Amino acid sequence: MAKLTVRDLPVAGKRVFVRVDFNVPTDDKGAITDDTRIRAALPTIRYLRDQGAKVILASHFGRPKGKVVEEFRLTAVGRRLAELLGVPVLKLDDCVGPEVEAAVSAMKPGEVVLLENVRFYPGEEKNDPDFARKLAALADVFVNDAFGAAHRAHASTAGIAAYLPAVAGFLMEKEIGALGRLLERPERPFVAILGGAKVSDKIGVIENLLGKCDRLLVGGGMANTFLAARGLNLGQSLVELDKVGLAGELLARAGDKLVLPVDVVAAPAVDAAAPRKTVAVEALGATDKALDIGPATVARFEKEIAAARTIFWNGPMGVFEVEPFAAGTTAVARAVAASKGFSVVGGGDSIAAIEKAGVADRVGHISTGGGASLEFIEGKELPGVAALK
Ligand code: 3PG
Repeated sequence: MAKLTVRDLPVAGKRVFVRVDFNVPTDDKGAITDDTRIRAALPTIRYLRDQGAKVILASHFGRPKGKVVEEFRLTAVGRRLAELLGVPVLKLDDCVGPEVEAAVSAMKPGEVVLLENVRFYPGEEKNDPDFARKLAALADVFVNDAFGAAHRAHASTAGIAAYLPAVAGFLMEKEIGALGRLLERPERPFVAILGGAKVSDKIGVIENLLGKCDRLLVGGGMANTFLAARGLNLGQSLVELDKVGLAGELLARAGDKLVLPVDVVAAPAVDAAAPRKTVAVEALGATDKALDIGPATVARFEKEIAAARTIFWNGPMGVFEVEPFAAGTTAVARAVAASKGFSVVGGGDSIAAIEKAGVADRVGHISTGGGASLEFIEGKELPGVAALK
């Protein structure tokens, strides 16, 4: 999937519209709790400044649904970006209109402007051509560095590419390269690890991975639905009853490629103070909830991960935000980091576990895309990527 990148176009003195994904997590006071996505965009911004481009940054933030919502302004993001870049960032209060046009025409080469949240306009998510054209009118070149939003066919991620030369930024290039390597030429064995609450969120991913990987390790709540399909009694555990049939079909198709937990940590409630026990999956009682994978499962998963030459991991192995149920997810994070193979981790929870375990620098690639990385692994064409030259 070769795409032109920001290196392939002359940008000196040009107005460059850079779509970034600055949709960062914040606390209840609006303070940024993780600036990974802002840091990830810095190489493209620095390169463009060094080349003498006028850098016009655009992002969404939250889901304001086409209206101005004060808590979704990008003001705090602009401040953090300025700190990280070490140069002033002019944060505007709108993303189109006369004030924005005036500010952009006053820009000098190397300067950086951050537009207001593009989702304050309904035309963004509707991929309205008029809105896309207004955004495009601000610039000479479109650079898409928002991998995290590339699965959205929105005006600033896809529509705008109809009106400007459209190329990938360095983050976009890195993400497509790392995820593409998994699907196109994985060194074997290729071990995929999937977790999280629901099978229904990841059916397409499981189907595509079964055709590509050598082992698919399944943990977290979604494993329960597979265990139920094997006829086990899961007590009060989360099971998607309407997906048990499908889980059974996937199991039959996967054979021994799909590896399920053999034991779990169970408790009557998702509560650190609740009495807990480690039991074989066949021995869950009527009031038990399976809340983490158990030590025998961890040992099996560690063995598979240690033998892997390529790894993809998305989703926690249990309710890892509650400490007594975090051991399985933490063990997988450490095993992935210890691997000598090429590893890619996607999804907020798996990344949080990798960071909590202090091993983020030992993972091959940490994807800034949650939904986007899953859709990529599912084999779907991402509109934000398809729109690039
Ligand atoms: C994300 O956080 O996954 C991206 O920024 C996309 O956000 P969205 O799900 O609101 O489109």
